[in-house]
Amino acid sequence: MIKGPTSIIRALEPRDFDIMFKYWDIDEVNFYTISCSFPRSRERFEKIYSAVAEGENSRYWGICDLEGTLVGNMGVYDMDQYVRSCLVGFHLFPPYRGKGLGTSSLLTGLRYVFGDMNYQRVGGETNANNRAAISMLEKLGFTREGVVRRGWRYRADYHDKVLYGMLREEFQTLNPAPPA
Ligand SMILES: CC(C)(COP(=O)(O)OP(=O)(O)OC[C@H]1O[C@@H](n2cnc3c(N)ncnc32)[C@H](O)[C@@H]1OP(=O)(O)O)[C@@H](O)C(=O)NCCC(=O)NCCS
Repeated sequence: MIKGPTSIIRALEPRDFDIMFKYWDIDEVNFYTISCSFPRSRERFEKIYSAVAEGENSRYWGICDLEGTLVGNMGVYDMDQYVRSCLVGFHLFPPYRGKGLGTSSLLTGLRYVFGDMNYQRVGGETNANNRAAISMLEKLGFTREGVVRRGWRYRADYHDKVLYGMLREEFQTLNPAPPA
């Protein structure tokens, strides 16, 4: 369990899947997180996300507020053990957005990924129209590294994808460790 000032990042529990599944079919949730919303059973959904949670190249966690309510998920993907780089994925359920929780929780997660997990580079990719995610990444000090034209798909539509990255030294300079 990783405790930050506004939230807790923890392993997924079986009870979480009911809440996650409830939000899964909402277009607004899917638009910036997956490319196609296939009709999916609750059982299949849990199987897929349990596998991602402890995948060969991925980890997927729950984000809770300080009262313990599940408010979203965070994950790392494309974990490259040799280069020590990974991608970060992040979403909050709609009622919890726009209150600073995303920025604060991602900061807590990054501290863990650069620190305990010992990654030296974290990438972030999103739809070029995703103003909230772009603001959040830039606010945290990610550098915009490029645009992949039509690199994002949602259902039958294609969008540009923007690539962001942060190196460990950059993160440490912006977020010095508190004195022991
Ligand atoms: C992206 C996301 C995690 C941001 O978390 P959040 O708690 O809503 O964001 P915050 O309140 O911390 O705000 C971060 C910045 O985004 C801006 N922002 C928030 N919602 C916004 C919106 N709907 N439109 C434009 N800007 C927005 C905020 O103003 C803030 O920037 P500022 O400090 O310069 O004003 C959240 O909105 C979300 O889950 N979105 C859907 C999934 C997603 O896009 N995931 C990430 C990429 S795949």
